[in-house]
Amino acid sequence: MNTASRKVFDSREGTDGQRPYLSVTYDVGAPATSSYADSAHGNKIPAPGEGVNRKWVGTAPPYEIGECSHCHDMFDDSICGVNTLNLFAPLDYDSQWDNFCFQCHQDPSSSVQVDMPYQYTYSVTRGGAPTADVCPTNVKGAFKFVNEDGTQRSKCGSTVGSSHFLGDIRNSLAGKWGFDADPAKINACHACHNPHLAMQDYPASRPSDHGGYWEVWGDEAGEKMDDNWGTYYPPYKYPFPEEPLAEETYFGGSPPPQAHEWGPAGTYFSPDTPDYATLCLDCHQDAQHSTRLSRNLKVINWETGDRHGEKGEPGAAQCYYGYLKAPYENDCWGTISKRKVVMCTDCHDPHGSPNEFLLRTCVNGHDDLSVPGPGEWWDWCSSCHWIGSGWHSSGLDCPSCHGHGENTAFGEGF
Ligand code: HEC
Ligand code: HEC
Ligand code: HEC
Ligand code: HEC
Ligand code: HEC
Ligand code: HEC
Ligand code: HEC
Repeated sequence: MNTASRKVFDSREGTDGQRPYLSVTYDVGAPATSSYADSAHGNKIPAPGEGVNRKWVGTAPPYEIGECSHCHDMFDDSICGVNTLNLFAPLDYDSQWDNFCFQCHQDPSSSVQVDMPYQYTYSVTRGGAPTADVCPTNVKGAFKFVNEDGTQRSKCGSTVGSSHFLGDIRNSLAGKWGFDADPAKINACHACHNPHLAMQDYPASRPSDHGGYWEVWGDEAGEKMDDNWGTYYPPYKYPFPEEPLAEETYFGGSPPPQAHEWGPAGTYFSPDTPDYATLCLDCHQDAQHSTRLSRNLKVINWETGDRHGEKGEPGAAQCYYGYLKAPYENDCWGTISKRKVVMCTDCHDPHGSPNEFLLRTCVNGHDDLSVPGPGEWWDWCSSCHWIGSGWHSSGLDCPSCHGHGENTAFGEGF
């Protein structure tokens, strides 16, 4: 069973004797649940006609939409023997702004893809934020809050924006999980995406799986938040139900029916949510180096080290400092046994954001959230919390008491 293999694509076999045939096989231990034909590049999702379709520059006849040759161009003599795997552009750009994938995943006006759609941030695609005036509007743009040398860059009217720095990601992957030992030969997008399998519904794959099945992550049983972290309450999609909510919703009453990220409207739970905590923790359970901050980042411990992870709330203290907003339940007296875990992408955009630390601009149905300066999180945290009264005020320096896993005397982490 473990030696079974599958082709990701075989519909061209024998149909055109003139074109060289390429095949990709993966050794799989379980029946395949996705294939190139089901992937966004392979012209299945979102709809036929939207797969890879590079603007034509050569003299040979155009390839059909979704065909491998849009990326592995077997007919362009100028790239033969030049680019890895006969890709139409080099795979191994050592750059933040130039990248094989960015040839298409950039602004529609400069993309080499015919009719490339805008590609919005997670706040829009999953959080439901309106697209009017939104910035950035494509994947390349989301990575442009960082300069080529890893320093912070102003963009979208923000001076505190942030992006994953592809150079640090390449270094982190080098020699691990089947990635090349030379960071300059790694395409950083492959940390989280398999170009042959990525689907619109489930675009991501785990880096730790790259040397193995490199399957799509999140589409199957065992890969959902509920499977690995207990009952998960997905945040609301935009817009948040009208504030303030009735008092009973603070104390375990039913939250107003409203569409959730990943979930059917009107339900509390969303068994379909992919487990992006596990995906991010592949790397962040270890200290990652940040060129921008000139330090190693904190190790994230979602099991016992974080209030937003499985560590949970400190019981009676909770409602003294403020209440959680719907759809989350409060537990002022420490009687609820269910854990209320949230996941990384409920707060962070995976690519980049006009806010610091990749913090999303739309969280739990609240849009246009900005972090005006470093550590100024009052409005941002208020998307899920009614922050309490007394000495707790918006002028405080939040990071001196709050942050991942920092067991400070007061804030006890988050
Ligand atoms: C969106 C662009 C794109 C499309 C479309 C695409 N590939 Fe690839 N392919 C890549 C990239 C990028 C790599 C390098 C992957 C890596 O470095 O791990 C690759 C790697 C490969 C490899 C090397 C082995 C491997 O799995 O890494 C083969 C063989 C291959 N592709 C065949 C195909 C076939 C067959 C198709 C059509 C069914 C196809 N590709 C469609 C981008 C593409
Ligand atoms: C020839 C153009 C082209 C290239 C090169 C290309 N893509 Fe795509 N990609 C597309 C198109 C078209 C879609 C489907 C339209 C869309 O939804 O954005 C897509 C969809 C995706 C998706 C699914 C998400 C979604 O919203 O549909 C992911 C993930 C993705 N691409 C990643 C990559 C990565 C990583 C690379 C580089 C290895 C890459 N792409 C290279 C054209 C391309
Ligand atoms: C392949 C390894 C890898 C994976 C997977 C990964 N990261 Fe990172 N992350 C890094 C590295 C390396 C850095 C430090 C360099 C940088 O800023 O990008 C980093 C930095 C960060 C930062 C700090 C950025 C800043 O400048 O303030 C945040 C926040 C973050 N990651 C969140 C996430 C989230 C959320 C996920 C899952 C969607 C994730 N990471 C997945 C490697 C990874
Ligand atoms: C640290 C992990 C990580 C890295 C690195 C990463 N992505 Fe993503 N990407 C994600 C996640 C997670 C999502 C959101 C999945 C979802 O919406 O379900 C996503 C979504 C996408 C989408 C679909 C949404 C959209 O904006 O249209 C595309 C396309 C995409 N990524 C392309 C890329 C490209 C190109 C690169 C390299 C420049 C890249 N990604 C690097 C994790 C990553
Ligand atoms: C409730 C919102 C929230 C959730 C959920 C969340 N984060 Fe964060 N994250 C933040 C905030 C706020 C910061 C800035 C404070 C800090 O650095 O600790 C941050 C900072 C980070 C940093 C930079 C840490 C440093 O050294 O400064 C990384 C890396 C990170 N998060 C990764 C993750 C990962 C991985 C997950 C999921 C396992 C996750 N985050 C879940 C809000 C969140
Ligand atoms: C996506 C929604 C969300 C966001 C955004 C969010 N939180 Fe939370 N927070 C929660 C949930 C849910 C809990 C309860 C966790 C549990 O009980 O297991 C919680 C718990 C806490 C706790 C533990 C005390 C308590 O009430 O249980 C602190 C402290 C906290 N959050 C601080 C913050 C800070 C500071 C920010 C902003 C940087 C923030 N939170 C942003 C959802 C969120
Ligand atoms: C002097 C330390 C300190 C500072 C500074 C501070 N907090 Fe807190 N905060 C606390 C303590 C203590 C709690 C209660 C934590 C607990 O219950 O474990 C708390 C709780 C919270 C909670 C959870 C509310 C609840 O109980 O559900 C949020 C949200 C929060 N703080 C946001 C902020 C924000 C935003 C800032 C910056 C404007 C900030 N805090 C500054 C100490 C601090």
